[in-house]
Parts: sequence; C-alpha cells; structure tokens
Amino acid sequence: MTPLPVFLVMLLLISGSSMAAAPSCMDVGLELAPCMTYLSDEASNPSKVCCRGVKSVAKQSKDKKDRLAICQCLKTFASTAASINSSRVAHLPHKCNVKINVPPISAHLNCSKSLSLDWATYYG
Ligand SMILES: *[C@@H]1O[C@H](CO)[C@@H](O)[C@H](O)[C@H]1NC(C)=O
Ligand SMILES: *[C@@H]1O[C@H](CO)[C@@H](O)[C@H](O)[C@H]1NC(C)=O
Repeated sequence: MTPLPVFLVMLLLISGSSMAAAPSCMDVGLELAPCMTYLSDEASNPSKVCCRGVKSVAKQSKDKKDRLAICQCLKTFASTAASINSSRVAHLPHKCNVKINVPPISAHLNCSKSLSLDWATYYG
C-alpha cells in the first residue's frame, strides 16, 4: 500500500481539529505548501491541490482577525522562502477562481495597513 504524502495526512488531521479558531500558521502553511512551485516561478500555474488549499484558507478568513493572522503567516513564509514572487501571491486566488483579494505579500508588508485597504471577504 502506498503511504499518503505526509502533508495530506496532516491536512486530514488538522481539518478535523481546527474548526472555530483563527487559522494557525501551521494550517495555512500546510494548505499552501503545494503552491510553492507556482509561487516561486517554477510552475506557470497552480496545481489543483494548491487551489484546494487556497480555497480552504479563504474559507477560514471570515473576519479581519482571521485575515490578519493569515497575512502575518504569509509574511513569515515570504521572509523565510527567499524565492517567493510576491505578485504571484496576489494572483494566486484569482488563478484558482477563489474570490478573495490578497495583497502582494512580501517580507516587508504591513499587514494591518494592507488589510484596511482591501482584503475582501470570501463569498460562498
Ligand atoms: C513574478 O510573477 C509575475 C507574474 O507571473 C511575472 O510576470 C514576473 O516576471 C515574476 N517575477 C520574477 C522576478 O520572476
Ligand atoms: C502598520 O500600519 C498601521 C496602520 O496604518 C500603523 O498603525 C502601524 O504603525 C504600522 N506598523 C508598522 C510596523 O509599520
């Protein structure tokens, strides 16, 4: 029997246990890990697994507090993964047909400021 990829197993575990709280960086990181090839310019389009992760993260961003938490996670990833193309972060939801606007997140982004500008809610 082929073992499931580790991140999938962890996603399954996590999706059962994190229903109400603001999304944790671990959730966000696991959901978006499959997006790294797109975000770092290796692949020209995000994969289906990546888009499922984006959708799931979007669903978890119900209010400003959630979005702030997600923004700060993404910012942390952007500062640790040198190769992230921040304009691709902003394009990602659109590429996945997810209705959420994400600012072009980089290590220097001020999350509070950009959230007050335009981090639209997810409808549906
Ligand atoms: C970042 O991604 C955008 C959109 O895909 C692309 O036009 C741009 O060339 C990329 N930037 C770098 C530095 O690769
Ligand atoms: C981020 O922006 C907010 C709102 O404009 C501001 O109050 C805060 O001082 C800024 N933080 C940093 C680290 O620049």
